[in-house]
Amino acid sequence: MKFNYIQNTPLYSALSEIGKRIFLPDGIFYWSGRAKNEAELIGTLGAAYGYEKDFIEGGNSDWLPCYLKEITDFSKLSVKEIIPYTSIGGLLETRKIWKEWIIKKSQYNQKDDSLLHRLEKYITTPIITGGVTNGIFQACSMFLDASDYIIVPNKRWGNYDNIIYKFIGAKTQSFEFFKDSEMNIKGLKTAIEKIAKIQEKVVLLLNFPNNPTGYVPTKEEASNLVEMLKESQITHKKPIIVLVDDAYEPYVYKDNVLNRSIFYDLHQLDENVIPIKLDGITKELLIYGGRVGFITIGLKPSWIIDDTELQNLKEEIHNKLEGFIRATISNCNSFYQVLVHKLFEENGFEQIIKSREEVYRLLKIRYETINSELRKINNPNISIDPNSGGFFVFINLNSTKIKAREFADHLLKEYRVGIIPIEKLDENINGVRIAYCSIDLSKIPELVKRIDLALKDF
Ligand SMILES: Cc1ncc(COP(=O)(O)O)c(C=O)c1O
Repeated sequence: MKFNYIQNTPLYSALSEIGKRIFLPDGIFYWSGRAKNEAELIGTLGAAYGYEKDFIEGGNSDWLPCYLKEITDFSKLSVKEIIPYTSIGGLLETRKIWKEWIIKKSQYNQKDDSLLHRLEKYITTPIITGGVTNGIFQACSMFLDASDYIIVPNKRWGNYDNIIYKFIGAKTQSFEFFKDSEMNIKGLKTAIEKIAKIQEKVVLLLNFPNNPTGYVPTKEEASNLVEMLKESQITHKKPIIVLVDDAYEPYVYKDNVLNRSIFYDLHQLDENVIPIKLDGITKELLIYGGRVGFITIGLKPSWIIDDTELQNLKEEIHNKLEGFIRATISNCNSFYQVLVHKLFEENGFEQIIKSREEVYRLLKIRYETINSELRKINNPNISIDPNSGGFFVFINLNSTKIKAREFADHLLKEYRVGIIPIEKLDENINGVRIAYCSIDLSKIPELVKRIDLALKDF
């Protein structure tokens, strides 16, 4: 495959060596496609098929993927749907419905006609990954070589480091996430200035609601952040790739904060601030083990001159992402891809949102309760990070008095409370993450009381 269109975009100059090299060759798919149209006898597909009656007692004459009869005891879905491989980039119906879901999540309405049109037209059809983690891994691999830096907040999900350092061998430029209880946009700007001097691209990873803090920017902070990224791109004239980890997207509990992904505001910019949306069914649809995630790339109208070019550009991008999938996981779990499609198609988005509302309410009241209980602790050695969403709160501990790991150990042994310590003194982090998402409301006051008591032991 030739990559004439992508080569003319700033996306290409930002790609890593792998990103430039990877593609999905025609191979089996080319010959299978041709065989479907041209052959009388087809022996292209590496999956066993037969007449059902030849492998299932009492089966019929349908030509089906061979399956074990016990499987049908566990699912109402047809074996035709759940047994075969999906296409490498994922089931087209699921990809298309997730794109509609992304459009729905933008909250644009009829009045936002031009924004809606831009969103529909200038994003790729999501490619299906093995959960959000696999999407993050792919996106990082696409843009980072071993010598490259990615900008990340000091408070971030620990698995990023496994992907960035341990797997890819790339480096992080971290910035202090908060300054005076607000997002440290100035610190991020300084990190961008530094990286723009030494790299031809800037790659940045953002995650709101954030793990481990639960932070979501206020609407004002979000608009300052977007403005700063825009200005930085204009100043440095290098593409800014923003990986947007939206794992906790729907769980926002306050009114004055950004209540949708920052992807949308970044996508509206004409400048080459290029957002890549990484979301999935894990938390959003509460199917943790389903392992279905999505990568969606925000394109800029200035990159192409007409619809044909746009189509070709999207195909090239899809081909590269599919090349990645093929070389790593080959394709994703078909059962859950079918399930996602059916969930949405047979219920409609509104019904799914309504069903999730119950869980949202449960989490919101826990969020309010844990914050109000934590506020009651009167101890100069702790501070709580600003939080408005997600599944967690983060308590900073005064590192001269209390070491996070020691505290977690003490809390567990003496008070039988389990939380996650994060101690990275080189990045100025010493604190504990509480996953209130997994604690019943009635137990939260007791949990906080025990934390308060344990703090007094130091
Ligand atoms: C910030 C963040 N991103 C991504 C993920 C991973 O999502 P998935 O389970 O879909 O790989 C998590 C899960 O804990 C997370 O906290």
